[in-house]
Parts: sequence; C-alpha cells; structure tokens
Amino acid sequence: GDVFTYDPGFTSTAACESTITFIDGDKGELLHRGYPIEQLAEKSHFLEVCYLLLYGELPTAAQMDDFEMRVTRHTMVHEQMHNFFRGFRRDAHPMATMVGVVGAMSAFYHDSTDIADPWQREVAAIRMIAKLPTIAAMAYKYSIGQPFVYPRNDLDYASNFLRMCFAVPAEEYEVDPILSRAMDRIMMLHADHEQNASTSTVRLAGSSGANPFACIAAGIACLWGPAHGGANQACLEMLREIGTVDRIPEFIARAKDKDDPFRLMGFGHRVYKNFDPRAKVMKQSADEVLGLMGIEDNPTLQVAKELERIALEDDYFISKKLYPNVDFYSGIILDAMGFPTSMFTPIFALSRTVGWISQWKEMISDPAQKIGRPRQLYIGETRRDYTEVEER
Ligand code: CMC
Repeated sequence: GDVFTYDPGFTSTAACESTITFIDGDKGELLHRGYPIEQLAEKSHFLEVCYLLLYGELPTAAQMDDFEMRVTRHTMVHEQMHNFFRGFRRDAHPMATMVGVVGAMSAFYHDSTDIADPWQREVAAIRMIAKLPTIAAMAYKYSIGQPFVYPRNDLDYASNFLRMCFAVPAEEYEVDPILSRAMDRIMMLHADHEQNASTSTVRLAGSSGANPFACIAAGIACLWGPAHGGANQACLEMLREIGTVDRIPEFIARAKDKDDPFRLMGFGHRVYKNFDPRAKVMKQSADEVLGLMGIEDNPTLQVAKELERIALEDDYFISKKLYPNVDFYSGIILDAMGFPTSMFTPIFALSRTVGWISQWKEMISDPAQKIGRPRQLYIGETRRDYTEVEER
C-alpha cells in the first residue's frame, strides 16, 4: 500500500511555498517580505505593513494614499448586518460573534465571492481588512449593551478602532495618540506569522475553493484556542490569578509538574527556540505605554516581569527552550487601554486578517495549489462482519 510520513502537528512538513514571511526560530528572527519586524514596528505603521504583506513591496507615498483610500471606503458594514448581530445572546463572547459575523459576510457581499476573478479577490481582501475592526468593535459594544459606533474615516486605522470601541453617544471622545500608536504597534506585531494553525486553516479551507469570507471565519475559529490566539486572554487571567510576586514560585512549580495540565500562558512556541522577537518589542512597548500613562507600578506588569525573570533562570524552561511569546505582554497593554480580556483575541484576529488574506491570495494564484488532503495511519479494527443487535 501507500507509505506516508507520520507527522502529527506538522512539525516537519512544509505544506506550501511562500514569499511572505520568514522565521528563523533558533535566532528568534522574523521578517516580512525581508524586512525585520523590529524595524517595521519602529518605523512603519499597520496599513503600510498590510500593503507590504499583500503586494510584496513597501508602497510609495502615492500607492499608500491610494491604498488607505481604498481601505477607508470600505470600513462601514452593511446596515442590515446590525440585525445579524442582534441575533446573538447579549453576553456572547466577542470571538463567538466574530466567527459568525465574518462567516456571514459571504451572505452580504456576494459580489466578491468569485475566487476565479482577481478583481473580486482584491475587493474581498480590502473589505475584510477594512471591516474587521468595525466588526470586532461592534461585537464588543454588543457584549456590553452599548450602541454601535460608526467608523470615522478621517481617523487612522488604529484610532478609528479605539474610537469605535470606547466612544459613547453624547460624550466627547478624543483618541489618545499614545494609545493609538500602541494599538497600531500591537496590530503590526500580529499581522502575519507564516504557517501557524489559523493560517494553515485558512489555506486548507481555501484549497477547496471556498469563498474568502468563509476561509477567514475558519481562521478566526482556529485562532480562538488557548494554545494559539486565545493565549493572550489566558495569559492576563493567569497573571491576575498569580496576583503578587511572592506567589510566582507556586505557579512555576505547577507549570513544571508533569501531572498538572497547567502551562505558563504566553510562554513557549513551536518555532521559536529563542526569544520571540515580537515579545521583545511588546515588552518595551508595555513599559513605554504604562510609563506614559503614569501606571508603571501596575501590579500585573510587575508579576509578568518577575515571572519572566524567574522562568528564564529555571532549568526546566532553559532546557526546553521556553521563552516569552507575543502573547505574554500584549494583554498588559490592552488591559491598560481599558479593554476587557474577552477583547484580546478579537484584536489578534483583526490584526491577523491581513496575514490570512495575503496567504490566501498567494495560495489561489499558486499554480502548484491543490486541495489540501492529509492522509492518516489507520490503527483501528481490520475488516469484520456486521453482527445483529441480539448478538452483541
Ligand atoms: N509551560 C510549561 N511547559 C511548557 C510550556 C509552557 N507554556 N510550553 C511547552 N511546555 C513543555 C511541554 O510540556 C513539553 O514538555 P515535554 O517535552 O516534557 O512533554 C515541551 O515543553 C514541548 O512542548 P510542546 O507542547 O510539545 O510544544 P508545541 O510546539 O507543541 O507547543 C505551544 C507550543 C505554544 C502550544 C506551547 O508552548 C504552549 O502551550 N504554550 C502556552 C500557550 C501559548 O502561550 N500560546 C501562544 C503561542 S504564540 C502566539 C500564538 O500562536 O497565538
């Protein structure tokens, strides 16, 4: 019979060729289209990174203006979608709402679901980059019982998102430029990360010819798990549960205990066996933002820093090469901005949308593309005959 490679978790299988993102896990290096993430986080901004991921080059000023215009033109969702939101339980987790609403986009935007048409693919990409912040903010507003806030297209991408989340009717809302820069940086740091579980899910769903909205909804569903994007929520909840620096050793001991399923959230990575370069930028950003807000004595940040210090000196973490990952410090910044933990993963999702859609577009135009169809090693019963119920 056929011989297959058994590779659970795809630890040694490359499922595609890609020109988008490069990771060197041993060095802790992350490049988008060749540009180091540290340089992008410092000098670029989220929409420029979107352009880079989608089209392969940094935009000229004119290309950037045009792209920004194309994105902002699509920030509003169809008014009828408001009714769709109202079908959810009022206290639904925003991720649950997002999986549903993004999946339903294919029912609202028929004119960009024909994957054979490059123009429709482009419109679908722009629509999702433009609308995901609106949808995430609406999911949040719905979960707290506040009215939806329409997008404001004179604001930059991050500021518009913050405003849609935090503005309330009849009250002034000025976006704090410190928060908006921090939000933009969080978005940049999450924009793409090659063939992680959710991106592979998007590619697998797309390989059957499914429409792009359905594929991104599949990616959002996959991202939700605590081993993946859900780790940012789980991490802040863990840091809060630890609460004070003196309780850290107890939690370190639990993480090391083979019989205890507890893991240090925000630690470890399938590919990075060194510092996650995104975590380094995120830590610096947390320091900066909390400093500028005058809350650098935030107890959660203190616990996080001390936990990192202790873990990095511990033999268990050293020998298994477990370092802080992108989710370790992001929650602290989002918390300081006023987001509840339930919004952390939706923010990851809206930021990763550009990565998913860039990878989906790359796959669709790859001549080597085929439907994804892993094989298995069957270890069940061999052929046997049906028995009548009285005989069982
Ligand atoms: N705390 C304690 N032990 C750990 C941890 C951790 N966070 N992560 C891995 N280990 C141990 C694990 O028990 C295993 O030990 P042994 O070899 O003795 O069985 C060893 O390290 C290797 O772990 P693994 O589960 O085989 O590694 P993996 O590549 O399958 O998993 C991971 C990677 C990220 C799922 C895992 O490190 C983890 O669960 N981390 C916590 C959740 C988290 O922070 N996820 C976010 C990942 S980065 C952003 C994203 O993808 O969203």
